[in-house]
Amino acid sequence: MLRDEEKLRAYYADAPEDLSLDDLDLDRIPRHVSIIMDGNGRWATRRGLDRSQGHVAGVDSLREAVTTSVRLGVDVFSVYAFSTENWNRPQREVELLMHLFATTLVNELPLFHQENVRLRFLGDLEALPERTRTVFQRGLDETADHTGMVFALAVNYGSRAEIARAARALAREAAGGALDPDAITEDDVSRHLYTAGLPDPDLLIRTSGELRLSNYLLWQLAYTEFYVTDTLWPDFDRWEYLRAVRAFQHRSRRFGGVTNR
Ligand code: FPP
Repeated sequence: MLRDEEKLRAYYADAPEDLSLDDLDLDRIPRHVSIIMDGNGRWATRRGLDRSQGHVAGVDSLREAVTTSVRLGVDVFSVYAFSTENWNRPQREVELLMHLFATTLVNELPLFHQENVRLRFLGDLEALPERTRTVFQRGLDETADHTGMVFALAVNYGSRAEIARAARALAREAAGGALDPDAITEDDVSRHLYTAGLPDPDLLIRTSGELRLSNYLLWQLAYTEFYVTDTLWPDFDRWEYLRAVRAFQHRSRRFGGVTNR
């Protein structure tokens, strides 16, 4: 992805002592960065606030993470915003989240235009409230001709459901005679996933210290480098992001083979 290095330097001016943009190899920025945004509720509870305030604060972190991804020159930035299991939360919290998704999307459209960001959604949007769906569709339409970073939001997303859905689609193709069951490849599976056409994540960041995948991108994360930070999502900023990319660049990625460095 084309990167404006001058803007990147300005964005990362005022670095804390332990951190500098010069620690990064700008030729080895991960192509696809994905984040499990976790810890909004705890962030709010620790401050004596309602959990919903944590989600509201999380929107600011998300905006900054989108901008950071663009500045760094990431090609695809994806986030886990709402899982198929999140419907089990109190109804009030679910409603607030759906409302927040819709409002945020409208509010951030100018940013997506300014930064040439193309929206994409991962998940089953059919089950979402009408207004949220309408706004999502508007976001897709308005950014369809953007040629910059892809920002993929996983909403009502569950990886097992996604894989089962791909299996059904492949079974239909086979039953219709369009596909030989013995010739089904990994690429055939991939092209039926919500992420069809996107590169697999190179770096997965999870905030708030939890060491689980929570039904997120199980297929796509096969060779992804994981970075877990104790920082809660509302406190995750451009510096935390830089730390994660720096850690990523110190990993030796072997993809099951031998070391290449
Ligand atoms: C996890 O924190 C966060 C979520 C389930 C929702 C993520 C939503 C946002 C960051 C709001 C903005 C998003 C968009 C797409 C506009 P948690 O509630 O599980 O925190 P906890 O583990 O501390 O309870």
